Amino acid sequence: MQQIQESTEHIKKIIDGFEPEFGIILGTGLGALVNELEVVQSISYADIPNFPVSTVESHSGKLIFGHLAERRVVVMQGRFHFYEGYSMDQVVFPVRVMKQLGVKKLFVSNAAGGLNPSFNTSDLMVITDHINLQPSNPLIGKNLDELGPRFPDMSDVYDEHMVREAMVIAEDADFTVREGVYVSVPGPMLETPAEYKYLSIIGADAVGMSTVPEVIAARHMGMPVFAVSVITDMCTPDRIKKVVLSDILEAAAIAEPRMTLLIRELVRRA
Ligand code: HPA
Repeated sequence: MQQIQESTEHIKKIIDGFEPEFGIILGTGLGALVNELEVVQSISYADIPNFPVSTVESHSGKLIFGHLAERRVVVMQGRFHFYEGYSMDQVVFPVRVMKQLGVKKLFVSNAAGGLNPSFNTSDLMVITDHINLQPSNPLIGKNLDELGPRFPDMSDVYDEHMVREAMVIAEDADFTVREGVYVSVPGPMLETPAEYKYLSIIGADAVGMSTVPEVIAARHMGMPVFAVSVITDMCTPDRIKKVVLSDILEAAAIAEPRMTLLIRELVRRA
């Protein structure tokens, strides 16, 4: 708690009265939303006390404060993954700081592999539920009672109203959005064909290596959450191929304008 407070106070001094209403976490290859921001202040993670520093090359590691659709937002350009060696506490640290800064709702994007055979590469999937297969979670250990309860409810993690709004926004903008269950695995290796089959059998529509820890921390604090996956590779038995990061980035880039529109319009209506 003390570290969270310290980081929050440091940031508050820099942003000088700016109070973000919404937090946005951008996933692999999905950073361009920041181009739509009227930036007020940008702070490198490296310059914030207690903040972990992002090691993934495709993430640039900045907290960006500004206006999106005339609403006050803070955007995490680059997130922390468990596979980078951070503790779950570190992975969710920025979300906890966001809450202290006044953030009321969280928007999350990620790149994910498609398990549902009706999906295609570069589809968007609004997350309606999740399965946590990370080897840990951020709520293990002494409960931070100041943040939320010991046993937070997980029966309605993803805000239903925002899911429905997303469908309407996509329809108005004339593109298709899928809905589905996201399973979070530790990575960093991609899955074997047998693992993809297993993940599909247990009920997942998309698989990725992020999002669920941050979402658990947000829900612990009572924050409504909206999350969307960009399907960057198809993982059904007939469509598995060797995946390299450049393919993932390419597929993410194709979907990025739609994802950006979706989040911007949700923020406008939030
Ligand atoms: N598996 C796990 N994470 C991913 C994948 C995948 O196939 N694609 C993008 N992120």
